[in-house]
Amino acid sequence: MRLKDKVAIITGAGRGLGQAFALRFADEGAQVVIAEIDQANGANIAKEIEAKGGQALALCIDVSNEDSTQEMAKKTMERFGKIDILVNNAALIYKIGVKPWDDRMPEDWDRIFAVNVKGSWLCCKAVVPHMIPQGGGSIINITSSTHFSAEGQLIHYTCSKGAVISLTRVLARELGGHNIRVNAMSPGRTLSESSLDQIGVPPNVEDMVIQTRCLKRSEQPDDLPGTAVFLASDDSAFITGQTIIIDGGGVFL
Ligand SMILES: NC(=O)c1ccc[n+]([C@@H]2O[C@H](COP(=O)([O-])OP(=O)(O)OC[C@H]3O[C@@H](n4cnc5c(N)ncnc54)[C@H](O)[C@@H]3O)[C@@H](O)[C@H]2O)c1
Repeated sequence: MRLKDKVAIITGAGRGLGQAFALRFADEGAQVVIAEIDQANGANIAKEIEAKGGQALALCIDVSNEDSTQEMAKKTMERFGKIDILVNNAALIYKIGVKPWDDRMPEDWDRIFAVNVKGSWLCCKAVVPHMIPQGGGSIINITSSTHFSAEGQLIHYTCSKGAVISLTRVLARELGGHNIRVNAMSPGRTLSESSLDQIGVPPNVEDMVIQTRCLKRSEQPDDLPGTAVFLASDDSAFITGQTIIIDGGGVFL
């Protein structure tokens, strides 16, 4: 119960990594807000948590829209009275397809940045005013190992995840005086539902990725929540502005 009585907002928690974070945070005693654009998936995860005796609130939220992120913070305060943890997990990922760097439409670039970068910033903007009077909080931004491996053929996604690391470092500096910690987690290629949405990747991509790793196996969504609990909890009370890579030793900082 390392997150007992903490209130955590997790964006994009209707499936994949976000779902794994939500279920584990609830197991650790947190009250969990599932801020998800897919209303049905979000409601299902909330029901699953409540069925196990936990407390959860599903909100239909578009992180790229400021009114929506403000509503997310307001409804969380109304239901739980505080916000201790924000996990910026929602992103557009594999549906965007694998293509050469110049075979992208400007609208695709803008949409990726609107969700993956602006969305994370807007969620911080909505929750930080509530964390400050509480005396602190923990924000966890989900980036990607593609930033470190300079993954080809996903240029707008990879650049957006680099920007998430910059956002993490800048906010760590700006919010440290309020005891708000901001860190990032960088998963490698993970076998979540989104990896089934891939368009244009070679059929043996998973085997190729495994060969680049020190630990020779696939990464699963359940490989991530342990690090998230650590960063959300007081066990990491003096860690901020950092990025932890969780990819079986595929890339190094
Ligand atoms: N799966 C991987 O291989 C992998 C690798 C590295 C990093 N990541 C990162 O991990 C995170 C989760 O990835 P995943 O594989 O679970 O992806 P996913 O596509 O399965 O889940 C993303 C969730 O975000 C939601 N979402 C999308 N746009 C939204 C919006 N505008 N507002 C609110 N919710 C929105 C989706 O409905 C979905 O439930 C992402 O930040 C991704 O970039 C994933």
